[in-house]
Amino acid sequence: MSVLDVLSVASEAYPLIKTGGLADVVGALPSALAEEGIRVRTLIPGYPTVLAAMDDATETPLPPAVSAQTGLAGRVLAAEIRGLDTLVLDIPELFARNGNPYAGPDGQDWPDNAMRFAALARTAAEIGMDGVAGWTPAIVHAHDWQAGLAPAYLHYRGATRPRTVMTVHNLAFAGKVPLDLREAIALPPEALGVEGVEFYGAISLLKAGLQFADRITTVSPTYATEILTPEGGMGLDGLLRRRAGVLSGILNGIDMQAWDPSSDMMLAARYGPAIMQVRASNKADLQRRMGLDIRPDALLFGVVSRLTWQKGLDMLLEALPTLIAAGAQLAVLGAGDEDIEAGFLAAMAANPGQVGCIVGYHEQLAHAIQAGSDALLVPSRFEPCGLTQLYALRYGSVPVVARVGGLSDTVIDANPMALGAGVATGLQFTPVTAERLAAAISRAADLYADRPTWARMQACGMASDVSWRGPARQYARLYRGLMTAP
Ligand code: ADP
Ligand code: GLC
Repeated sequence: MSVLDVLSVASEAYPLIKTGGLADVVGALPSALAEEGIRVRTLIPGYPTVLAAMDDATETPLPPAVSAQTGLAGRVLAAEIRGLDTLVLDIPELFARNGNPYAGPDGQDWPDNAMRFAALARTAAEIGMDGVAGWTPAIVHAHDWQAGLAPAYLHYRGATRPRTVMTVHNLAFAGKVPLDLREAIALPPEALGVEGVEFYGAISLLKAGLQFADRITTVSPTYATEILTPEGGMGLDGLLRRRAGVLSGILNGIDMQAWDPSSDMMLAARYGPAIMQVRASNKADLQRRMGLDIRPDALLFGVVSRLTWQKGLDMLLEALPTLIAAGAQLAVLGAGDEDIEAGFLAAMAANPGQVGCIVGYHEQLAHAIQAGSDALLVPSRFEPCGLTQLYALRYGSVPVVARVGGLSDTVIDANPMALGAGVATGLQFTPVTAERLAAAISRAADLYADRPTWARMQACGMASDVSWRGPARQYARLYRGLMTAP
């Protein structure tokens, strides 16, 4: 099997820079692909946290087209950072900003995001054409809107170019930029129009990728079908239906080393399927940290999430009386919309000892919730894949999820058949309403009361394969197929 070289381009990669699951995927997939004979190098922007993690980098000049497009000084750094073969686009004027990569301290998007991510995509395209320090990829793989222009730039470079793949992690983020920036981001006039990159009076960087990539993937088979419908297509379903022949859904996996309860140093106590008694100390630790009553027998629900409309947690606030009446507990870690944050903080004040909420972003606490909760709630209105339910499966927290997108592909609902066959790993509910969520919470409470059944579900979840092995094989097949396609 010959080695195939792929340039992956994205704005996030765990552990260097992360706002969500995109970072987890971009950071973990390359090592799984190495097993399949795919050599991946990952291009990301030189945010301060990224530069701080690098030592021993080799430096190459910016590709001339990138200097010309941005008018700025910079360089491309190459280094292995924590096992990831990384190329870093260091243009301080664009990326030397602390905090959230997309928005300033006032929470508003940076006004020059179009220029910033056009520079990222252009660099990927130029490396695709001319290589970097003697290495030229056969495929450029762009992730989400921040990299969406890369396939478009390559499309306009003609036939002798690398093949391109566009992966959609979330269709809701279209990467809209003003139409009058077309020239500044170096798209030709013919790129405009609805058959091009135009999207409701703006340019969509994501649409650019979807329009021009040789292959489109998204992060679960169910989401791949949902985005073909007007309900799930976010205005791009027409384009996606037209390109359905090159669209596929490949489920995400998880980093089995970073998320392993038997070796996770972020936990109070380590455990595995054979030593589940130890898990109780993680539960007590979580209850203490969240200000909850230390009750070993209370059903403890966890949430680790961005607090946005997508994640449906406003419905959890509505369903809360059911959870409280069942004598259960809730531990929420998240940040996002002020209303939802305020709602959980108020719920905590109103239900001391039963509801705990920490607003903010804490990697370690995210692990502690997976290891200490009995069940993990994911009531998303839509979910391309979702990673927290996969972490929950591995950590023996039973996922209670909305039956949408990747959530429906990864959790086996505890219906009577599945319970009878001993294959259930969690609970699903549909339609995605506060009422059905409340009913699922009640159903979880009933199941929890039957401890042997609950333990069986935990064991099944922990035994399910959530690794990157299968998905990496599918990406490898897609890449190799693309190389032999006419
Ligand atoms: P999305 O990418 O849509 O936010 P995913 O489930 O794919 O959803 O990935 C979310 C990732 O971000 C997971 O790794 C999860 O643990 C992490 N995460 C979300 N919110 C927080 C938080 N407040 N603190 C720490 N980690 C978080
Ligand atoms: C997006 C999606 C999430 C997915 C993640 C990684 O942020 O919202 O469902 O798991 O990307 O692919």
